[in-house]
Amino acid sequence: MQNFFFIAFPYIALILAIGVGLYRYYSHRFTYSSLSSQLLENRQLFWGSVPWHYGITLILLAHLLPWLFPRTAAAVLGNSTRLLVMELTGLALGFYCVFGIIVLIGRRLPNNSRARAVTSPMDWILLLVLAFQVLSGVGVALFERWGALWYLSTAVPWLWSLVRLHPDTSTVTGLPVLIQAHILSGFVVILLFPFTRLVHVFAIPLEYLWRPYQVVVWNSHPRQPDAPPLPKTAVLRSPPSEPTDPERRRALSRLGVLAGSISAAIVGIPSIGFLLGLRKAPEVWRGLGNADSFQVGETVEVSFLDSSPLPWSGVTAKTAAWLRRESPQQFIAFAINCTHLGCPVRWLPNADLFMCPCHGGVFYKDGTVASGPPPKALVTYPVRVRDGVVEILTSPLPITSI
Ligand code: FES
Repeated sequence: MQNFFFIAFPYIALILAIGVGLYRYYSHRFTYSSLSSQLLENRQLFWGSVPWHYGITLILLAHLLPWLFPRTAAAVLGNSTRLLVMELTGLALGFYCVFGIIVLIGRRLPNNSRARAVTSPMDWILLLVLAFQVLSGVGVALFERWGALWYLSTAVPWLWSLVRLHPDTSTVTGLPVLIQAHILSGFVVILLFPFTRLVHVFAIPLEYLWRPYQVVVWNSHPRQPDAPPLPKTAVLRSPPSEPTDPERRRALSRLGVLAGSISAAIVGIPSIGFLLGLRKAPEVWRGLGNADSFQVGETVEVSFLDSSPLPWSGVTAKTAAWLRRESPQQFIAFAINCTHLGCPVRWLPNADLFMCPCHGGVFYKDGTVASGPPPKALVTYPVRVRDGVVEILTSPLPITSI
């Protein structure tokens, strides 16, 4: 059954989405739209559509970018302050989407709703699946914390294995039911894509960016008897030949271009710099203490600054590992994070085992999996001894195998 849900179903959903989507585009092109109901009801649509679209776009990006750039994401999330900020931002966006989808559903519910009159059964199915998707996402954020992190070591390797046509479900089949339901309903959304108004995602009117602007005249107020006559059509494809106030219009255009350029620079320059600069993940040797302070055969918890602390991170910039002195010359350091969902593992000296308190994962003393859901052994850090000091090579969280 797991193979059907995590191998066959995603492929079926994708093939149908692409195949039927293309067929619909070429055979019924005018249906490739969101079939807006704005003219029927505008006020509630605004309060539902704006939160929904802004929220879901950012959340989709937050899922897509770590999938495309897992190492960069690991570098970003390897700092606990940044991880916390990401988690809180994701949760806030999730609530924002929930609010939006509730309004979008609510405006179609009343019997006398004009939007309801144009709502098809497929619209209802899509709205309910989307509602489940964001609610389960919020549930995952609340009850299976640090999803930004474990996403990298669970869903990301599985998704890449599907892309490479070598499906490997080992990192997702042990996930809690809520997470599995969230993943599967995501593929249900993909499956519904070509059969619903969701196709409007690929009908973004990009040409709006460069076409001549339009003058839209709202005709909702009674016209004054002495008002100048309206143009033949309320929508003009190009500016009037004799602008009434050309100076003001020119100044406003320049102001608009300037504000747009500044906004683009503020967002774009750090993003590009970040992507270029962090492709090579920072790795720094950190001292752990005098070699003499560690007993042979003993496994102790050591803490150190992560590889890219922020000035304001404070104590949260510290991370930890388990260090064991195997022999007078040899040390081994294990990442403290469980390879299942990233919880910190504990060392049980009497049992010679690492134990994860979250879902019962157990690791042997060499870090290999003894039992439970963890898909692979604990990650180890390079360790060296320099001038009598044990040093560890810190790096972004070593949790992704992509
Ligand atoms: S986080 Fe699930 S077993 Fe460790």
